[in-house]
Amino acid sequence: MNVGGKLKEAGKQWVKEDPEKREVYWPTDEMKEKAYFSDERIYTQASKDPEGFWAEQAKKFIDWFEVWDADKIVELEPPYFNWFAGNKTNLCYNCLDRHLDEHRNKAAIIWEPEPVDEVQKVLTYMDLYREVNKFANVLKGLGVKKGSTVTVWMPMIPETAIVALACQRIGAWHSIVYTAFAPHAVRERMQDAGSKILITVDGFYRRGKLIGLKKRIDEAQVLEKVGAENCVVVSRVNGGVPMKEGRDYYFDELMRGAEAYCEPETITSEDCSFLLYTSGTTGKPKAVMHSCGAYSVGVALTMKLVFDLHPEDLFWSTADIGWITGHSYGLYGPLLAGATVLWYEGAPDYPTPSRWWEIIEKYGVTIFYTAPTAIRALRAAGDKWVEGYDFSSLRLLASVGEPIDPDTWKWFYEKIGERRCPLVDTYWQTETGGILLSSLPGIGPFIPGVAGPALPGVNYDILDETGEPVKEGEFGYLVVKSPFAPSMLRGMYKKPEEYIAEYWSEYGTEIYFAGDGGIKIGQKIGGQPLIKITGRIDDVMEVAGHRLGTAEIEDAVNELEEVVEVAVVGKPHAIKGEVPALFVVLKRGVEVPKEEMDRKIVVAVREKVGPVATPEAVFYVSDVPNTESGKIIRRFLKGLVRNEALGDMTTARNPECLKELAEATKYRGPQKIPGYNLSAV
Ligand code: PRX
Repeated sequence: MNVGGKLKEAGKQWVKEDPEKREVYWPTDEMKEKAYFSDERIYTQASKDPEGFWAEQAKKFIDWFEVWDADKIVELEPPYFNWFAGNKTNLCYNCLDRHLDEHRNKAAIIWEPEPVDEVQKVLTYMDLYREVNKFANVLKGLGVKKGSTVTVWMPMIPETAIVALACQRIGAWHSIVYTAFAPHAVRERMQDAGSKILITVDGFYRRGKLIGLKKRIDEAQVLEKVGAENCVVVSRVNGGVPMKEGRDYYFDELMRGAEAYCEPETITSEDCSFLLYTSGTTGKPKAVMHSCGAYSVGVALTMKLVFDLHPEDLFWSTADIGWITGHSYGLYGPLLAGATVLWYEGAPDYPTPSRWWEIIEKYGVTIFYTAPTAIRALRAAGDKWVEGYDFSSLRLLASVGEPIDPDTWKWFYEKIGERRCPLVDTYWQTETGGILLSSLPGIGPFIPGVAGPALPGVNYDILDETGEPVKEGEFGYLVVKSPFAPSMLRGMYKKPEEYIAEYWSEYGTEIYFAGDGGIKIGQKIGGQPLIKITGRIDDVMEVAGHRLGTAEIEDAVNELEEVVEVAVVGKPHAIKGEVPALFVVLKRGVEVPKEEMDRKIVVAVREKVGPVATPEAVFYVSDVPNTESGKIIRRFLKGLVRNEALGDMTTARNPECLKELAEATKYRGPQKIPGYNLSAV
């Protein structure tokens, strides 16, 4: 067991709450009557036999071409696990083909463009099926095969769904890159995955601005540098971008000549269904590999369990397709369930902070899933933007991405949910593929700031540094135990050592270490403790709900010739939750004015990582605290920018630098730093 590494550095910087002050809400009678799950015995039934529970869900929710060996529901070979080994299915088939008999003309995707004068588009299941089949044939024609990686740099437009589903149909792995990352990030991910094809757009709209993606790819010479063989360009804005003969093709032109039917590939449990790059604690983003059948089971179940999705619902997850929420709950989950999902292209506050509320009213959204950062921003714009909208269609609200503070929770619950709609706080990760912890809408309870219990069938715990479960009210580290959950990752593409280091080293290879802190609050439902998530305990930040690694930002800044050393930590921010704060040590003798240096740093980060990672505070200092072995002690830096206790200072090789750092950050925390006079601040 290797407890200690990340854990010792994490500190225990959570604030104890008074449990008496917690407000507890329960489902309304109407919700209890309608909900698929309203009996809390589901928890005990599932925990008695988790494997049996999952096998039952697998049969219920997925159509299999070939069913797994009944004796081997899950094969455990720590740190790998293989659910439903030998199963055969196809994710695209489950999302489309099997729904055609029952509702070919039902809306699958309703798309709202950002420009208000443009008309929406509706794709029925039949429309989507037709387009996906054709594009699957286009991909084949371009040499894409089962197991090839198709990189996708596309916004929230229907073609992105078509591309993703077409990849699933032929067993190719999509690797979707968030559009607010830089072209450099696309290049790195293409290179890492050995991807030879990029699907992108001429442009799209964001906050009224035209964002030209293909142009940015060309300017950064991404395709040349990775030796890409093909680039398919969707014409979203009729942008007339330069196209290289024999390499670049317009989506529409290719689709015109494509054949109508493409046989869905048979995908076994050993095959991957997609790659998604995410930030870890070290180095560059890594590709999480998700399975096909087992992932689908987890995602499909949660559509009913957590979102209580009924056939007549209109489900809207505001997350971008570039993130796991966009994959699991913006695309695959709703389509696996045969439901209608809403996609919106643009910003929540364009042209006004009422845009989301207008959309809910316009289409009659019934289930609304979003992130605390967006709610905080829309709340900060003022209540007048919410007033007068008709929210009567809504019946469930849900939150994801970071801990939702009780104030924001209550505002969302009252103003949007009108105190009628349950608000479920769903905790999970890119790696877990689907939700792990959440209260269930027909069972409850809903407590502001508390995520809830683990879902039925999920074996989790909160451990202390020695690997023992913590007592109620004590802080600890969230883990998942055997048999894990079917939707969880199958590995990290080409990086087995990092897979182990990142998730399976703190408590050994039989316990998945999630990287988050949590507390059992001392209340239970169905025998399951309710959990408050306190947030990341490692070097991963959640900036406006977007996961970023400090290492990627540090790498970008370190490349500047003026910089000797840089350390990045998350600084609290009222709307975005956290923003990157940089401690920068410049080379001796560098005499660049501060504004000029700030600008260089911002440009470097935006170019290498993307606008989403733009630093919001840069402190120029002469040294940063290190251990004897030269490792930056981030705990100190975090404590400084958060005005929290810094902890034991004797581990630093150079504790004298803390005085200068405290001055730079105007530290007002509880700890006394030698030579730094708090009262002078
Ligand atoms: O720290 C947790 C936080 O988001 C991290 C995972 O980020 P990502 O892989 O980008 O996936 C985000 C969407 C699932 C987690 O390690 N997180 C996610 N949901 C919650 C949360 N923190 C607290 N409460 C949540 N509901």
